Amino acid sequence: MSTDAEAAMMGTERFAALWGSLSPVGRVGDDGGYVRHSWTDTDLVCREWFVEEALDRDLEVEIDRNGNLWAWWGDPEGEGAVVTGSHLDSVPHGGAYDGPLGVVSGLLAIDRLRERGVTPSRPIAVVVFTEEEGARFGVPCLGSRLLTGAYDPAQALRLRDRDGTWLADAMARAGLDPDRLGPDPERLARIGAFVELHVEQGRALDHLDASIGVASSIWPHGRYRFDFTGEGNHAGTTRMADRHDPMLTLAHTVVAADVAARTHGAHATVGRVDVAPNATNAIAARASAWLDARAADTDTLHKLVDSIQRRAEERARHDGTRVAVATESLTGEVGFNGDVSRLAALELNAPVLPTGAGHDAGVLAGHVDTAMLFVRNPSGISHAPQESASDADCAVGVEKLTDLLARLCQ
Ligand code: GLV
Ligand code: MN
Ligand code: MN
Repeated sequence: MSTDAEAAMMGTERFAALWGSLSPVGRVGDDGGYVRHSWTDTDLVCREWFVEEALDRDLEVEIDRNGNLWAWWGDPEGEGAVVTGSHLDSVPHGGAYDGPLGVVSGLLAIDRLRERGVTPSRPIAVVVFTEEEGARFGVPCLGSRLLTGAYDPAQALRLRDRDGTWLADAMARAGLDPDRLGPDPERLARIGAFVELHVEQGRALDHLDASIGVASSIWPHGRYRFDFTGEGNHAGTTRMADRHDPMLTLAHTVVAADVAARTHGAHATVGRVDVAPNATNAIAARASAWLDARAADTDTLHKLVDSIQRRAEERARHDGTRVAVATESLTGEVGFNGDVSRLAALELNAPVLPTGAGHDAGVLAGHVDTAMLFVRNPSGISHAPQESASDADCAVGVEKLTDLLARLCQ
C-alpha cells in the first residue's frame, strides 16, 4: 500500500473512532435518528463529551455568557484567533452529521496540525454554538446571534419551549447565569477567521463526484408563526355550513405556501403544527402552524411570505376564523466573499456551492471573515435520519480543514 493510501486509511479510522465516541448520545429508536435538544440531559452529555475531548488535548475550555463552548489552543485572550466548529444540537429526530461533523472535525484538525508540526502564530479554537437549530426555543442560531448582538437578550428571556420551560430556567439548570446573556463584542473582535465544516444538505457534491465543497452563499430565511382561531364544536352535530374550523384555514394556508413557493422559485414549508384540543371528534378551537420560508433574495422572501399571509387572511374571512402572524426570526442573505472563503476555494480546489440551509457561519459572516466547507452527503437528505457521509469523505474533510487552518494560523 502506498504511503498516501496508508495515511488515508489512518485518517478514516481516526475519524470513525472519535465519531463513534459521540454517536450513541441522543440516538433514538433504530432508524439512526437523533434528538439532541439544547440544555436537555442529552445535550449536557454531548457538552461533557466535548469538554473531555478538549481537555484530553490540553485545550483550555471556557463557556461564554451565551452558553457557547470554546476549546482553545493558545491564549483565549489573544488577537486574530482562528476559530472552527459548529453545533451539537439537532432538530427533532434529525440526522447524525448536521452540526457534530464540524465539531468532531475541528478537534481532529487540531490533532493533525500538531502532528504536522504547525506552530500557530495565533490562537486556535474549536467552538460549539448553542441552539443552532432553534428546535427547542424556536430561534435558530441563538448562541451565535446573541454573541454577535443579532438577537435581543431581553427577547431571549421570553423564549419558552413546547412544555413551557423558559430558556432562562433551562440554562440556569445547567449552571449558567441567564442575566449575562447578550452581545460579546470583545470576544468577537478577537476572532480573525471562522471556518465551519458541515455535512452537505443536498446532493450537489455527489453529482460532481467531489468529497468536499466550499459555500458561496446562504439564502435569506424566515420563520413565522401563524395562529388560527375558530370555534370548537361537536364533530357529529355541527352542520358543515355552521363551522368556523381553524384547521381548514390552516390546511388552505399550507397549500397556499406550496403554490407560492413554486411560483416564486423559493422554498416554503409547514413542518410543525399545534392543534387544540386535538380531539378526533371535536372541531378544533385553535391551531398554530410554523412556516419556514427561504428564497434566493430578501425581496423575493418578503413577497413570498406576504402572498401566503394574504391567502391565509382571505381564507380566514371565508371560514369565519381569525389568523395572526408573527415573525419569529429573520436572517438576511449571506455571501461568503471574504479572503478566508476565497482562500478556501483556491487552497482546497473544491466546487463552490450556494445553500438554502442556515448556519452559525452565516451569522458570524457579518462580523468575521468566514468560510464554510461541505462534506458530501450521498443521500442528499438532511434533518432526517437518512442524512449520511462516509468515514472516508469525513476524513478528507478533516485534512482539508487542517490545510485551511494551517494557512490561516501561520
Ligand atoms: C438549519 O439547519 C436550518 O437551515 O434550518
Ligand atoms: Mn440543521
Ligand atoms: Mn447545522
